[in-house]
Amino acid sequence: MIISTLREKFPTHSFIGEESAAAGEKVELTDNPTWIIDPVDGTTNFVHGFPFVAVSIALSVNKEVVVGVVYNAILDQMFTGQLGKGAFMNGKPIHVSGQEDLSQSLLISEFGSSRDKEKMDLVFSNLGSFLNEKNSAHGCRLLGSAALDMCQIAIGGGDMYYQYGIHVWDIAAGALIIREAGGVVWDTTGRNGELCGTPQVGTSPNLQLFCTLLG
Ligand code: IPD
Ligand code: CA
Repeated sequence: MIISTLREKFPTHSFIGEESAAAGEKVELTDNPTWIIDPVDGTTNFVHGFPFVAVSIALSVNKEVVVGVVYNAILDQMFTGQLGKGAFMNGKPIHVSGQEDLSQSLLISEFGSSRDKEKMDLVFSNLGSFLNEKNSAHGCRLLGSAALDMCQIAIGGGDMYYQYGIHVWDIAAGALIIREAGGVVWDTTGRNGELCGTPQVGTSPNLQLFCTLLG
């Protein structure tokens, strides 16, 4: 429905969607205006009735995201960002917390969906490096929607978020919203969070995301 509505208005634009990729469509980010869509981020939450579920839509032009929208229909929270024009929740300007001290920070992360042992070992060891006797965040939350995790950072409801092995449709809109809210986004190479990193699985572009938000 999202793709057909947009395609009617913008017939020359391209699309990258989680469901289209799952159906075997080739995923390719070009300079052409491209809508990057996750119709349901937080699928497991949706199945269980946990109210942390969103539609995430981003528009990239010349491989740069210029518009991002993340909508949690259950809580009626609409997060929006436009390149150079700020970030908003339900029309009101939002800003990251500005917290720079790990011990005072609320960390947000995710387990991800794979239960592969090597991947889970990495997830637990990453969490351990932020939650231990010597070096610890104030708290940690794993809420089940990467897009909404990023919006939590954008409203200052969390101070940093990371996830290893994530897809472009999970974070394209959220990353712009964070930046427009005054935060920063990095990938694991230390670069400025390239939208599509090295593909890890099949044709899906994965962003090896490591983002820390220091305000
Ligand atoms: C997932 C969620 C989850 C994250 C996974 C994503 P989905 O998206 O964002 O929080 O940990 O990596 O794949 O499958 O619910 O659209
Ligand atoms: Ca998703």
